[in-house]
Amino acid sequence: MGDDAVQQHVHEGKASFDHLYDLPDPRPLFRALAPLGYRIPHHGQPLFSFLLAEQRRDNGHGPLTVHRPLTVLDVCCSYGINAALLKHDLTLKDLYERYSTEELDGLSAEELAEADRAFFAERRSSAGLRVIGLDTAGSAIGYALRAGLLDGGFGENLEHDEPSPELTGALRAVDLITVSGGVGYLSARTFDRLLAATRGRSPWVATFPLRTVDYAPIAEALARYGLVTEHWAGRTFPQRAFVSAQERRFAVRGVRERGLDPAGKEADGEFHADFYLSRPADDAAALPIDRLLASLDA
Ligand SMILES: C[S@@+](CC[C@H](N)C(=O)[O-])C[C@H]1O[C@@H](n2cnc3c(N)ncnc32)[C@H](O)[C@@H]1O
Repeated sequence: MGDDAVQQHVHEGKASFDHLYDLPDPRPLFRALAPLGYRIPHHGQPLFSFLLAEQRRDNGHGPLTVHRPLTVLDVCCSYGINAALLKHDLTLKDLYERYSTEELDGLSAEELAEADRAFFAERRSSAGLRVIGLDTAGSAIGYALRAGLLDGGFGENLEHDEPSPELTGALRAVDLITVSGGVGYLSARTFDRLLAATRGRSPWVATFPLRTVDYAPIAEALARYGLVTEHWAGRTFPQRAFVSAQERRFAVRGVRERGLDPAGKEADGEFHADFYLSRPADDAAALPIDRLLASLDA
């Protein structure tokens, strides 16, 4: 990968892709990530879909949401990657292929968004799902909206500001908050502001923090809103290859400092993420995470 694709203006030792997050279209980001095998949204696709199916069905605590479409808030949604995978008959590999193909090189960002709108509409698989996106990258959100991926999009930074009235209104309908590839950019403050705005609705929160990240402050913030956070033990999710020996040292040292063993994971050359799920105490007590996700583990 060329230096132009990965700017190593080192952010605590981790390569930065910031310059690719807020562009008029997703092609440069996908092309930079493909050689690194970036695949956290691929891991999120079956897990998030499973949780939505679980929320849809009557789980013995009364019918939750069976009569209306469910709403996902995807935080750090970028160009709508999770929305593309949750609402369409598509894999992450399909997206890599689409955004790498030379056939689309001649299209402007506007033309690509228009072509994507038709591409995704033809592959829509889930009528009963709305995905709204939150990201600081306003251009990426704009793209995802133009391409028809997001049902609502907000270019806001809850690390710095309270949610806008529009975002606050949208948050009142959220059933599931997802974060893939973004927890490291967020502190408890974002989750605090999100949950305060849902006004007692108690959405589930499903996230993939890197193993270098201490999730305790976020779990504590969620607990103040009655959510119990569980870690899905026994399984980690490879996120992407390291771009350099320096990044590898950063990750290996980071997991060791947290008392974790990098053997077979970071020591083999890739970042690994954990999976955390936060739910109201009743839901977590009725079906703890290991039993809830047992069928996915098979
Ligand atoms: C690695 S990308 C993850 C994209 C996608 N969720 C995925 O799984 O591939 C990280 C995203 O987090 C966004 N981001 C960074 N800081 C943020 C913040 N404070 N609030 C919301 N989004 C943020 C960036 O703009 C970028 O789009």
